Amino acid sequence: MKCVDDFRLTFKNPAGGEEKYVPIMIGGMGVDISTADLALEACRLGGIGHISDAMIKTVTDRRYNTKYVKEKLKKYKFNVNNSDKSVVQFDLDELAVATRLHVEATMERKQGDGLIFINCMEKLTMNAPKETLRVRMAAALDAGIDGITLAAGLHLGSFSLIEDHPRFREAKLGIIVSSVRALQLFIKKSAKTNRLPDYVVVEGPLAGGHLGFGMDWAEFKLEDIVAEVVAWIKEQGFDIPVIAAGGVFTGADAVRFLEMGCGGVQVATRFTVTKECGLPDDVKQEYFKASEEIIEVNQISPTGYPMRMLKNTPAIGSGIRPNCEAYGYLLDANGSCSYIQAYNKVLEENPDAKKISEIHVYEKTCLCTHMRNFDCWTCGHYTYRLKDTTNKLPDGRYQLLTAEHVFKDYQFSKGNTIALPELDESAV
Ligand SMILES: Cc1cc2nc3c(=O)[nH]c(=O)nc-3n(C[C@H](O)[C@H](O)[C@H](O)COP(=O)(O)O)c2cc1C
Repeated sequence: MKCVDDFRLTFKNPAGGEEKYVPIMIGGMGVDISTADLALEACRLGGIGHISDAMIKTVTDRRYNTKYVKEKLKKYKFNVNNSDKSVVQFDLDELAVATRLHVEATMERKQGDGLIFINCMEKLTMNAPKETLRVRMAAALDAGIDGITLAAGLHLGSFSLIEDHPRFREAKLGIIVSSVRALQLFIKKSAKTNRLPDYVVVEGPLAGGHLGFGMDWAEFKLEDIVAEVVAWIKEQGFDIPVIAAGGVFTGADAVRFLEMGCGGVQVATRFTVTKECGLPDDVKQEYFKASEEIIEVNQISPTGYPMRMLKNTPAIGSGIRPNCEAYGYLLDANGSCSYIQAYNKVLEENPDAKKISEIHVYEKTCLCTHMRNFDCWTCGHYTYRLKDTTNKLPDGRYQLLTAEHVFKDYQFSKGNTIALPELDESAV
């Protein structure tokens, strides 16, 4: 019986050599849920870890003592009561500095034989989609990131945005797709840059975060999409590793995909309950406690993509005032976000409401504020199995895991077994 460690993820480097890694990628989880600490553990253990550039200024304020959010709010305070947010622009120089700060601080701490990538979501349109995405990617490359994973969008123009960057051909660049069609489109539209992606993450409908499917997500199977993508890549004569993602919960699940011809797997849910994960500890306990019934896919994300989350997440039905002057990461090219409309509609329907707590907006959520506060508990489909991956403590809480424990369980376990951690006596 094979285990994940019998396989290696192979990248061809521009010099013609081969680089080999443990075929486990920890997926990007914004906003700082996949922390530098988590990514660095994957790297130390010979795999690939992701940081994320989602709400980067919030992340640097929290981690590196910058004051970007306060300053932005001060600058645009005059616009708070205006539904048109087009004036609320990101300062591109600051965006570059903040991105470099996070990436450099992470790369400086790198140990081991693995790699650190950054997850860049196109749907973070930031009131100037092209300009901000260009700066985000270029700054990450400037700061020495090993690779960029293009996420949450088709990214048809993303390679072109950075093709003049000196590291464009040297850094690993990959894309997340949920269909062979999306990959075909991406490769066709990127052809003029004369560069293929170095890897393709195929993300199925059981993943956490936003889904690249409609509300008919349950009709799709990761295995089928992976088989189609692997076959198409082979037919084209390309040599691009496919990374399967979404619902890979055990080492045996991973082995099934590696035996299908995948180069690796991308996993996330099992790491949400590790000490290195950025979620607060009480939220990690909510993930452990979750039953299958409280996990839903809904349409409250203003991005327009369905999103999976726990039904008891505070973000559902919260009617907080839009906070775009401080954040504004989901503002489209015209300065609008569908939460603003949903919020205004509820305000009009409730003219007598005096307090924010009396307002409930169910149609959409203010994703920036809630993700910033760890109040949007997005999760993978198998979150309800997390309780089976650890020890229940006498006080009813579950023992947090280490990223190393989970990583090694994926790497070395055989069959569908999941190794429990040693009981942490100090937590009892
Ligand atoms: C809490 C959470 C947050 C996530 N956030 C992002 C994100 O910001 N960007 C992204 O591309 N994928 C995101 N994902 C998806 C993961 O990177 C990954 O591809 C997927 O969840 C893998 O499936 P698994 O969770 O079943 O292992 C998120 C997943 C989780 C669980």
